[in-house]
Amino acid sequence: MASIAVVLVLQALLCVTALSAQPQYACNPNSGSIQSYAFCNTSLDLTDRVRDLISRLTVQEKILQLVNNASAIPRLGITSYEWWQEALHGIAYSPGVQFGGNVPSATSFPQTILTAASFNTTLFYRIAQAISTEGRAMYNLGNSGATFWSPNINIYRDPRWGRGQETPGEDPVLSGTYGINFVRGLQEDNEPYSDTNAGLSRLKVSALCKHFTAYDLESWNGAERYNFNALVTQQDLMDTYNPPFQSCVQEGHVSGIMCSYNRFNGVPNCANSNFLTSTLRNDWGFIGYIVSDCDAVSLIYDVTKYASSPEDAVADVLKAGMDLNCGSYMTQHAQTAYQAGKINDFDLDRALTNLFTVRMRLGLFDGDPKTQPYGTLGKSDICSDEHQQLALEAACQGIVLLKNEGRSLPLSQGSVKTLAVIGPNANATINMLGNYHGNPCKYVTPLQGLQIYVSTVFSPGCASVACPDDHLISAAVDTATKADAVVLVVGLDITQETETLDRTSLLLPGQQQQLITRVASAVKVPVILVIMCGGPVDILFAKDDSRISSILWVGYPGEAGGVAISQVLFGHYNPGGRLPVTWYPENFTKISMLDMNMRPNTSTGYPGRTHRFYTGPTVFQFGEGLSYSSFQYNFTSAPRQLNVITSSNQSSWSESQKSSHTRNAYSFFLQAEDSRCEVLQFPLKITVSNRGPHAGSHSVLLYHTPPKSSPTGSPKQQLIEFTRLHLEAGSETSVAFTIRPCNHLSTVRKDGSRVFHGGMHTLSVGDVHHHLRVMQVHW
Ligand SMILES: *[C@@H]1O[C@H](CO)[C@@H](O)[C@H](O)[C@H]1NC(C)=O
Ligand SMILES: *[C@@H]1O[C@H](CO)[C@@H](O)[C@H](O)[C@H]1NC(C)=O
Ligand SMILES: *[C@@H]1O[C@H](CO)[C@@H](O)[C@H](O)[C@H]1NC(C)=O
Ligand SMILES: *[C@@H]1O[C@H](CO)[C@@H](O)[C@H](O)[C@H]1NC(C)=O
Ligand SMILES: *[C@@H]1O[C@H](CO)[C@@H](O)[C@H](O)[C@H]1NC(C)=O
Ligand SMILES: *[C@@H]1O[C@H](CO)[C@@H](O)[C@H](O)[C@H]1NC(C)=O
Ligand SMILES: *[C@@H]1O[C@H](CO)[C@@H](O)[C@H](O)[C@H]1NC(C)=O
Ligand SMILES: *[C@@H]1O[C@H](CO)[C@@H](O)[C@H](O)[C@H]1NC(C)=O
Repeated sequence: MASIAVVLVLQALLCVTALSAQPQYACNPNSGSIQSYAFCNTSLDLTDRVRDLISRLTVQEKILQLVNNASAIPRLGITSYEWWQEALHGIAYSPGVQFGGNVPSATSFPQTILTAASFNTTLFYRIAQAISTEGRAMYNLGNSGATFWSPNINIYRDPRWGRGQETPGEDPVLSGTYGINFVRGLQEDNEPYSDTNAGLSRLKVSALCKHFTAYDLESWNGAERYNFNALVTQQDLMDTYNPPFQSCVQEGHVSGIMCSYNRFNGVPNCANSNFLTSTLRNDWGFIGYIVSDCDAVSLIYDVTKYASSPEDAVADVLKAGMDLNCGSYMTQHAQTAYQAGKINDFDLDRALTNLFTVRMRLGLFDGDPKTQPYGTLGKSDICSDEHQQLALEAACQGIVLLKNEGRSLPLSQGSVKTLAVIGPNANATINMLGNYHGNPCKYVTPLQGLQIYVSTVFSPGCASVACPDDHLISAAVDTATKADAVVLVVGLDITQETETLDRTSLLLPGQQQQLITRVASAVKVPVILVIMCGGPVDILFAKDDSRISSILWVGYPGEAGGVAISQVLFGHYNPGGRLPVTWYPENFTKISMLDMNMRPNTSTGYPGRTHRFYTGPTVFQFGEGLSYSSFQYNFTSAPRQLNVITSSNQSSWSESQKSSHTRNAYSFFLQAEDSRCEVLQFPLKITVSNRGPHAGSHSVLLYHTPPKSSPTGSPKQQLIEFTRLHLEAGSETSVAFTIRPCNHLSTVRKDGSRVFHGGMHTLSVGDVHHHLRVMQVHW
């Protein structure tokens, strides 16, 4: 709830002074008889240890374990445990994280949306690995727990969403891939875990994917995330909202899931056994704990009256499969629910099994953490040079070049003697972090970054990002006229977009546009616009203004943002980021934010959402992003035809037509689960050449366009896969993809089933297309 959120932020800030110097763990070898309990015996099976522990607990003790600040059980040598830590893009302020003393700060990586723009899976993994090293070190030092409630992989459905910045963007494949790599980077023990042992393997720290599911609205026109009932079609659920979570569970092996505030077709997500038990655990094989978003359990009675008493709310969530209540509702109402027979020991033990299993996988019941894996991580592993370098690299890799007329970028130190640096984010510090941040190791502001290269003149132009009036604009114009080039750093900050705050406009706030236009019309030198924000902004005016030579989007670039921006502007780093979200024009805000449909509706004029479905004009498209070089593609090895053999269980693909055997060759489909799918898999090779004057990294985005004959509701295009490569100027390389047609070239029908249709499919990279005929062949 909003009030609770405020209290928690205050709590987080106050915690700076309240330090515990010891990590919390059970089974302390110095505590005599306690370590003889079976649950402390590390040579026993984890499941037996968990069972032993739970068998020793009273009902009262059990209930006190069902909340984020789980109580100590002193008679068994079990310490209290705070489950709530945040690590979205670095260890962040949260109830279980304490900055101060030994750990004044932690590395602040770019906000997720910018990292996603790198389309670099190795980067996603490495960042999470660095964060978990810092997290585990902070645990060892007594400054943190080991369960982190990150990443946020909700689909960025509407450009106004205040938390879109926290996500990897609007595409399910990108979000899922980000989720898998981020989770594995946080959780993996020294060796990447194999898919078979993942369920009970040791955890470096525990990751969590949130918010399950269809959560992407804070507050709009009277609807609040606490009472919002998302009306979602089965088709949208199955091909948009749920796939990132499925990847996170099945390929990331995540150990935590958070159920969201909103209702889904009338049912609160934390009380939805269909989702929490059938989908997550039974269908996807999730092994881990499910926590409510904070105070989501109380909403079920207090706000939506879905349950008719607090006890019913508690029973609803436990019976649905939720394990942990962020908040204190459980401790207040579970006892009376138990006495009234609404919940029983089976319900409690089911939840406790999931909770203690995660604590044990983290090694929190194995005695002194210093003697365990990661036991030596400490102060020197936090804000290390290596991690700070990675934060810089990440910002460089994500930055997106959107316009570069007359190749005014990169700037040359030789010809730019004096650079004017202007705008409300030009000397940004904390604004570079976005929300869910911690205390960074240090800041280098854009102004300070540029000063490394040239001498600068500075003028903010606006008193704040809100830029309420124009009284600083004349001074900024004067400053601009004194320079050989102008860099304007504008955009948003968390006063405009954040948790609990959606935007109502996509335009730059206040007088920012006036600032940009007046500066651009006053000078004859290159004007470079740097947009610092998470969500998209409508800057069509600047895109179309020939006096503005270049535009860069820098997200919220994190602690090293200023260095990254200057390295890109001066050509030390050739930009290769691509937009992870569609930039819509301002009139998109006429669309109801409550409309969860991804697909357009011709009868109402609803334009649909995201690059897969949106039919209207854009400011910039998903995947847009330039380079100082230029890249060309060619399909070098790809089949032209795929034959699905329908009269037997065999299928094959081949280059040759077998038309003599065909009848109604296109009008068929295979269910994605069909046993014939496997053999249809084929390799695809694409050559990529760097035809420009600079070396650079480039992300290859491979798309699929379904056949024209596909059923209504098929996407216009969908991302199949992506990979980032580095190419020297003038060089060429080849990338290989493995295409699994029933997965990559399939679409979801109204009933939610995924099918692969016959017909003419198109594979595309950039503006190069390859057509693939898929037909059935009767033997
Ligand atoms: C731990 O369990 C093993 C296997 O059952 C047993 O041999 C050993 O004695 C136990 N250790 C303690 C300290 O009880
Ligand atoms: C947990 O939080 C509640 C509410 O703030 C508080 O009353 C209780 O003492 C806390 N328990 C522990 C173990 O910290
Ligand atoms: C820019 O910000 C830094 C860090 O807050 C500050 O030290 C410096 O004085 C600022 N520069 C200007 C010109 O305001
Ligand atoms: C916004 O304006 C464009 C161009 O005038 C139009 O094509 C589009 O349909 C409009 N979108 C909405 C949501 O009104
Ligand atoms: C389009 O909107 C109309 C009016 O709300 C509705 O009746 C119809 O079912 C919608 N069509 C689709 C394909 O969603
Ligand atoms: C693409 O490949 C074909 C066949 O190998 C070749 O003829 C053509 O020149 C290539 N095009 C480019 C742009 O490399
Ligand atoms: C196809 O496979 C199914 C199940 O394995 C089997 O029952 C059936 O006989 C097979 N059909 C043919 C034509 O081989
Ligand atoms: C991807 O990220 C990793 C980690 O930062 C980096 O080493 C690598 O060079 C990046 N790849 C490309 C092609 O930019």
